[in-house]
Amino acid sequence: MSLKRVIKIGGSLLFEGDKINSTKIKKFCELIRPRDDILAIVCGGGIIARKYIQTLREFGVNESKCDMMGIYISRLNARLIIEGLGNASFPMALKTIEDLAKNMLFKKILVLGGLQPGQSTTSVALEVSEFLNADELLIMTDVEGIFNKDPKKFPDATKFDELTEIQLQNLILESSSNNQAAAGEYRIFDAVSLQILKRSNLNVRIFSGKDLTQLKKILDGNPSGIGTVIKSGQN
Ligand code: UTP
Repeated sequence: MSLKRVIKIGGSLLFEGDKINSTKIKKFCELIRPRDDILAIVCGGGIIARKYIQTLREFGVNESKCDMMGIYISRLNARLIIEGLGNASFPMALKTIEDLAKNMLFKKILVLGGLQPGQSTTSVALEVSEFLNADELLIMTDVEGIFNKDPKKFPDATKFDELTEIQLQNLILESSSNNQAAAGEYRIFDAVSLQILKRSNLNVRIFSGKDLTQLKKILDGNPSGIGTVIKSGQN
């Protein structure tokens, strides 16, 4: 029996600059549509969410309202995936875990963006994976995995092939700065996500979704060496 999976697609992967990357979204949906092992897809907010959040900040709006803006945009992104998947997906972006519980009975791919303020769509992906008893959570982002420092700023950054929960926790603590929990500024793996990971014992792989070849390899059962695997339940 194949593994049951949840996929998170980072908002950065849906756009090229500030243009919607329709070719990429179509390709992603074509890869997912025929499969019966994908329980849910969680979409991030990407650059559009950040632009809207930035505008609200200029208005002096509080962080919770900025988060809500990020959530609305991530749900718009979810709608792109829903339409791309056609009949394979449940037709609405789900807004709560209760919606998820009811609509999982339709046995369609469930697609969602954010749920509530104070967290990232990575946290949503973990909450959904835990709730649906997924075997694996695949987190697609715009870098090759988790690095010892920001690979976009430091060319000598090295990728971790595997991390235990404790190692991940130490990395999050080391890299935390004042703006870590500001709307639109959550990192690939944030503190809320870590707490859910710790209690859920989920298997998580974080990898690049830039050209989708890595996703295809993983789905075809050849995940070796791809991204960073977080070893859940291990210290
Ligand atoms: P993300 O920051 O998770 O999406 O959500 P992203 O931009 O795709 O991130 P990457 O590409 O994975 O790095 C966008 C914003 O929406 C709000 C937060 O402000 C978040 O930064 N959000 C999202 C919430 O407040 N709650 C949620 O449940 C999800």
